[in-house]
Amino acid sequence: MAPPDLRDRLIVALDVDSLAEAERLAERLDGLVRRFKIGSQLFTAGGPAVVEAIQKRGAEVFLDLKFHDIPNTVAGAAREAARLGVFMFNVHASGGLAMMKAAAEGAAAAAVELSVRRPLAIAVTVLTSLDRGALSRELGVSSSVEGHVLHLAGMAAAAGLDGCVASPNEIAALRTNRGPAWVIVTPGVRPAGSAAGDQTRIATPRAAARAGAHYLVVGRPITAAPDPAAAAAAVLREMAS
Ligand code: C5P
Repeated sequence: MAPPDLRDRLIVALDVDSLAEAERLAERLDGLVRRFKIGSQLFTAGGPAVVEAIQKRGAEVFLDLKFHDIPNTVAGAAREAARLGVFMFNVHASGGLAMMKAAAEGAAAAAVELSVRRPLAIAVTVLTSLDRGALSRELGVSSSVEGHVLHLAGMAAAAGLDGCVASPNEIAALRTNRGPAWVIVTPGVRPAGSAAGDQTRIATPRAAARAGAHYLVVGRPITAAPDPAAAAAAVLREMAS
């Protein structure tokens, strides 16, 4: 189920290049934003110290490193994500069923062993940067984007993952297909009237929340705004409307 408090459904993407910049943003969003996404740029720059710094502020971390490797290696990475205490991490569904199972089991086993909370394990299905042409020409996948997303989400569910990342276009079909408990994390959220940037499949906070996304990932509309706190407050208001 989606968290009952709207503020727990907004995840702000800290796509910056240093711990100092991440802390500066978190400070400006203090009291409004409780969850942050740390992805490959910031994690490569700052490492686990960034996760710890954000957690020390009382906020939760979604570790967006999209693991994709042999099952044994991904199980180890999932274990370390659990040890870091993140509330959510993700893996590429195209790594296959055994790899996804290893991720789910690695995180669950580590949580028991280390007496920490089990993080949500989420699948990345089809990257939003890929369209049908690239799927077929470059990856040899002949189905539609939506067909392939639903197929990979089914595999992820069979592997024991908790949910998937989905563009606004796919939320409704996934919700119908996978039921109410399936966690849907949606990037590409753009407040009414804001710049799309490089995102193509976009939706407003209201539309994404109403279509059934549990978590909305918003980056630049908040982090690049002249007043990030005001922008975050506006997004929360739009989600509630
Ligand atoms: O700045 P913006 O709101 O576009 O940021 C969206 C965030 O969500 C970025 O960190 C991006 O890497 C991430 N993301 C995405 N599309 C996906 C998966 C993750 O935009 N399919």
